[in-house]
Amino acid sequence: MHDEIGLPEIGLPDIDLTDLDRFTAGFPHRVFDVLRRDAPVWFHPATAHTPGGEGFWVLSRYADIVAAATDDATFSSATGGNRDGGGTTLEDMPMGFAVGALLNMMDDPRHAKIRRLLAPATTPRALAAIEAGLRSRAVAIVEAALAKRDCDFLVDVAAELPLQAVAELAGVPQEDRHELMNWANVTLDYDDREIGEVNDRVVQAQARMFAYGSDLLERKRARPAADLLSIVTHAEVDGEPLSQHEQQLFLSLIVAAGSETTRNSIAIGMSALGARPQDWERLRADRTLLHAAVEEILRWASSTPYNRRTATRDVELHGQRIAAGDKVTLWWASANRDDTVFADPHTFQLARNPNPHLAFGRGVHFCLGASLARMEIRVLLEVLLDRVGTITPTGPIEYVRSNKHTGVRHMPVTVEAR
Ligand code: HEM
Repeated sequence: MHDEIGLPEIGLPDIDLTDLDRFTAGFPHRVFDVLRRDAPVWFHPATAHTPGGEGFWVLSRYADIVAAATDDATFSSATGGNRDGGGTTLEDMPMGFAVGALLNMMDDPRHAKIRRLLAPATTPRALAAIEAGLRSRAVAIVEAALAKRDCDFLVDVAAELPLQAVAELAGVPQEDRHELMNWANVTLDYDDREIGEVNDRVVQAQARMFAYGSDLLERKRARPAADLLSIVTHAEVDGEPLSQHEQQLFLSLIVAAGSETTRNSIAIGMSALGARPQDWERLRADRTLLHAAVEEILRWASSTPYNRRTATRDVELHGQRIAAGDKVTLWWASANRDDTVFADPHTFQLARNPNPHLAFGRGVHFCLGASLARMEIRVLLEVLLDRVGTITPTGPIEYVRSNKHTGVRHMPVTVEAR
């Protein structure tokens, strides 16, 4: 492979997807090249870090991941077999608390009914209404970075817009957004934490965000608007309102789902573009390439590397028997480098077409914020292209220590005006 010639071959016994130190240089694509080739349905043995001391299945090929993601009766986002908890992360979440209450950790038919209610908040019209506001924020963010010249692209440029976008969608008042940003940043700081582990700071920040969400819901109940939280307070499923708990989880859900993912895609995408000045200039000269560029950034960054499912019944795949109750992980980031679907997958191709990437997942849980994320990336790119000549790295990217988010903590760069 292009940049790894001469590196020793990886064997299955060397692979440990629960050792987070192996994710600190970005997503381990080489490991997944081996899995796709040699063991597309691989049982990852239990390790010192596997939650509950349990192994789990790893699906790495595009076609198998699509098949599993679109068979949500067999591969549940809630639970399966005799398992009590479940959800979409390697660690089991408790039933009733997160599983079955968070939109992304419940199954149809309830999931479909709630999702349908939320649709009005993410229509093209609803998003068009917030685009101009996000664009002026993007201009202010980029101007501030240019004024600094030496900056941290993640902190100074990529982080704010996604949080503002999510706050806008949820209907969080302007004066509260700063605090929301602080809580989100604590929650998203993975430093030194192992899989499923939380520390006091995180527990406190989550509790405060939850309390704030509850208070905001009360305000929305009294004075509803067209935002997502207003919809949630008035939503009814089968003639019943959503439970208090379900409603309260919404703000945390979209802050978690929408802010980190998008900031990471922006940072990783810009790092790829920064390393290809000819692509940057080509994009500046031909804005019809923007759509393709956004899709390639999403594929390239794959900032949500995997989601978990739980098998609800015994199922056989490529000769392997997955038992009811087994954990099954779908590695979107690996599917996005599958050479049976993407030509020269380890190369960033600005105008890649077609680009049927799975960065937003597939099937009934397909990302609810996909159009919003696409818009944010496009708007920020447009503002950068208009104003910034070069973005030059001044140090290595520092990645978050996580296998659940391919994320950037710091990205030191110099930005020069055009
Ligand atoms: C580049 C940015 C983003 C990426 C890579 C991303 C990725 C994903 C993926 C892979 C899923 C599927 C999860 C599964 O199948 O278990 C998902 C679902 C979801 N995303 Fe995103 N996301 C992004 C942005 C956003 C934004 C901006 C929002 C907020 C508005 C959002 C809200 C959600 C929600 C609520 C779900 C659950 C949908 C459901 O279960 O029906 N995401 N996202």
